[in-house]
Amino acid sequence: MFESGSRIIRDGGKLAFEYVPDRVVCRDVQMKELEVNFRPLVSGGRPCSSFLTGGVGTGKTVTAKRFVADMASYLHSHGGTMDSVYVNCRIRNSEYTAILDILRHFDPGCPDRGFSAEEMLQSIGRHVASGARPFVVILDEADSLLRNNGRNIIYQLSRFSESLSGRASLSLMIISQTSISGMLDEASISTFRRGNTVRFNLYSRDELRQIVAARAELALYPGVISGECLDLVASLAEGYGDARFAIEVLERAANIAEGEGGGTVTADNVRTAGAMIYSDVSESKLEDLDLQRMISLLAISRAMKGMPHVTLTAAEKTYAVVCEEYGQPARKHTQFWTYVQDMERSGLLTTEVRREVDGGRTTYISMENIPPREMGKKLEYIIDAKGYEAGSREFR
Ligand SMILES: Nc1ncnc2c1ncn2[C@@H]1O[C@H](COP(=O)(O)OP(=O)(O)OP(=O)(O)O)[C@@H](O)[C@H]1O
Ligand SMILES: [Mg+2]
Repeated sequence: MFESGSRIIRDGGKLAFEYVPDRVVCRDVQMKELEVNFRPLVSGGRPCSSFLTGGVGTGKTVTAKRFVADMASYLHSHGGTMDSVYVNCRIRNSEYTAILDILRHFDPGCPDRGFSAEEMLQSIGRHVASGARPFVVILDEADSLLRNNGRNIIYQLSRFSESLSGRASLSLMIISQTSISGMLDEASISTFRRGNTVRFNLYSRDELRQIVAARAELALYPGVISGECLDLVASLAEGYGDARFAIEVLERAANIAEGEGGGTVTADNVRTAGAMIYSDVSESKLEDLDLQRMISLLAISRAMKGMPHVTLTAAEKTYAVVCEEYGQPARKHTQFWTYVQDMERSGLLTTEVRREVDGGRTTYISMENIPPREMGKKLEYIIDAKGYEAGSREFR
């Protein structure tokens, strides 16, 4: 078992989820924006802040880590210095555990539950002051923290530098898939409103192709995967725009090929890998939906148009169009909303209510497990296969 030598994978670590490549492909614009945001830190040790936002697997985490590491080496090679800590707020999702994580960067033995959050913040302040250098805190998946009453920590950290002097400062890099302004207090919002938001668009097929090609070069033996197979990985991932999905397909396909012992990754290995990942959304969940719910979900899938989410209002407009297409009466708003909530309970989509800058509230719908276009195709197929007749309310 496992004894045969590897012929496909040269370095599996390079396919690992947390691996940070030397260069983040196709993210030059975002790296440049971060450079602009953090210039005051590099030139004068002043505190800076950035908010990184975008859909699943669009490279927020990897870009933030790469940027901070590059900034540190730049400073070191120019006679300067800085320090940083990375906190994943999905894991450290309370104010207390997030602060403890930051403190443990300075004091690894700091006991759990020994101090209050206030005392820990003071202690962090003393460490930053005595370090006399810029300190960057990366709060990744910050929305988890904010949903869990974590707004105080962001406020405290964003004000931190006011009590520091010299080259000691605290800068914040906040990462979230969704907008967080509705969850912050006014003072913190103003810190993150000064043009320092860095957006991560979904990757195009061509960008995904470049990302997997670069990763294959690092992780696999030369020549074991053809250009056509890389194209295939990119087109499977295209509907998601998600690099994590693309790299996962590459990794699974490479493992399947390794198991077969043929010495190359074939198109079928890639297809099998893709199908394994797609099947996460079980067809049976869709088959259980009635016609109105299927139409609603189809409308939402179409309304997404490659975006990470769509507003309830925009989805409802498309719903009216799809109802017409299938000769069905469009239900009223409250009924449509009930369908959306039902489907959220089944894990087919997620909704989020956000406070907008003008004070109003907007409901956003997103679909994380499957590319909306694939979902749309599946639904059209099921509706067809069930023999639905236009104009009738029932399936045949
Ligand atoms: N431009 C890129 N070049 C190379 N690798 C990338 C790039 N973008 C993403 N990746 C890789 O894809 C995976 C997902 O990226 P990352 O974790 O940065 O996404 P994310 O935007 O933080 O997603 P999430 O919101 O789900 O946390 C990682 O393994 C990362 O190394
Ligand atoms: Mg991330």
